[in-house]
Amino acid sequence: MAHLDIDFIRSQFPAFAEAPLQGQAFFENAGGSYTCGAVIERLTRYYKQRKVQPYYPFAASRLAGEEMDEARSRLSAVLNIEADELSFGPSTTQNTYVLAQAFGQMLKAGDAIIVTNQDHEANTGPWRRLAAQGIEVREWQVDEVGHLEPAALAGLLDEKVKLVCFPHVSNLVGEINPVAEICAMVRAAGAYSCVDGVSVAPHGLPDVGGLGADIYLFSAYKTFGPHQGIMAIKRALADVLPNQGHYFNAGVRYKRFTPAGPDHAQVAACAGMVDYLDAVHTHHFGAEPDAAARGRAVHEMNAAHEGELLSPLIDYLRGRNDVRLLGPQSAVGRVATVSVVANKPGYALAQALVPEGIMAGGGDFYAVRLLEALGVEPAHGALRLSFVHYTHADEVQKLIGALDKVL
Ligand SMILES: Cc1ncc(COP(=O)(O)O)c(C=O)c1O
Repeated sequence: MAHLDIDFIRSQFPAFAEAPLQGQAFFENAGGSYTCGAVIERLTRYYKQRKVQPYYPFAASRLAGEEMDEARSRLSAVLNIEADELSFGPSTTQNTYVLAQAFGQMLKAGDAIIVTNQDHEANTGPWRRLAAQGIEVREWQVDEVGHLEPAALAGLLDEKVKLVCFPHVSNLVGEINPVAEICAMVRAAGAYSCVDGVSVAPHGLPDVGGLGADIYLFSAYKTFGPHQGIMAIKRALADVLPNQGHYFNAGVRYKRFTPAGPDHAQVAACAGMVDYLDAVHTHHFGAEPDAAARGRAVHEMNAAHEGELLSPLIDYLRGRNDVRLLGPQSAVGRVATVSVVANKPGYALAQALVPEGIMAGGGDFYAVRLLEALGVEPAHGALRLSFVHYTHADEVQKLIGALDKVL
């Protein structure tokens, strides 16, 4: 397998050359990644040349519409789904509120749904509100280390359950849940699955088709793109879920769950996410006609790089007896989202890291239910150190040195 060329990778992100960011190692990627140059170029071109109502016959409008379609078709090819199974919305949170509204219209009192307490609030709170309509809400709970055990889900599934919502990876504990296995269980029980992939997509675009989720969600702005939420909804489900868009658009699958007019420029700029992926693929592997195969190759290469950087950080944190490392205790089975609970509150630690040239976050990360389940006071919170494939090994060493000073 090709070894990631870190200089090439970083050359694709204008942020690394910007003066205000020099000397600062970025460890809050789970909150929002740097944007790749290809996306910024498309966004800029759209605003300069195509900022008109799309899909009319004049050139600027036609090109605007074509670029929006290009974003949908090229991203869906990488994700291994049909182009009309992908839609864009303002954010993953707004997308789940729309989807919860649709399920609320389809389900009836007495039906049940399952949510977790491992999720970011975006994929649990909107669903829990269906309880007000008489829908039974069951909670698939984490164990004492924040792990979601599939066997515990099995005990909650029965013929009343119509939907199971869970994360691919928690934005706090970072553990990779066995999504394909869980979706198969859910399907066998006659229910739909809704998977929050926001915390995993930045570590490699997933093979959504292969995972078998009925709904798969992630956020482009954490995946080197513009501020958009991306929804993959299987045709069979999209066709039976009540339309949330204008009535005359009900026949256009990808418009059914985007009630607001989309942000045209940002939708178009999402094509830049695939430009970037393709540039990385070509640089490291050469030509490959299959988009999903390109996605998989880059995913594996990035994961290997992140794993190499993750091990020393995990080893360092495990070697300290004054911090509690949340989630898996090794670099295996997790992504590079590392949260620790220390004597000082998470936010205070993030503040202490600023003069050390480390950009990190501290707090509850909207995973309040998970912190509570782990016995951590949400106001005390955790320090989260999250990185992606563009992170340099030297930055991890710098982080370890800084942690030595502030913890
Ligand atoms: C795991 C996870 N799910 C959902 C969200 C919400 O995404 P958005 O900001 O696009 O609404 C976040 C944001 O931090 C997240 O980390």
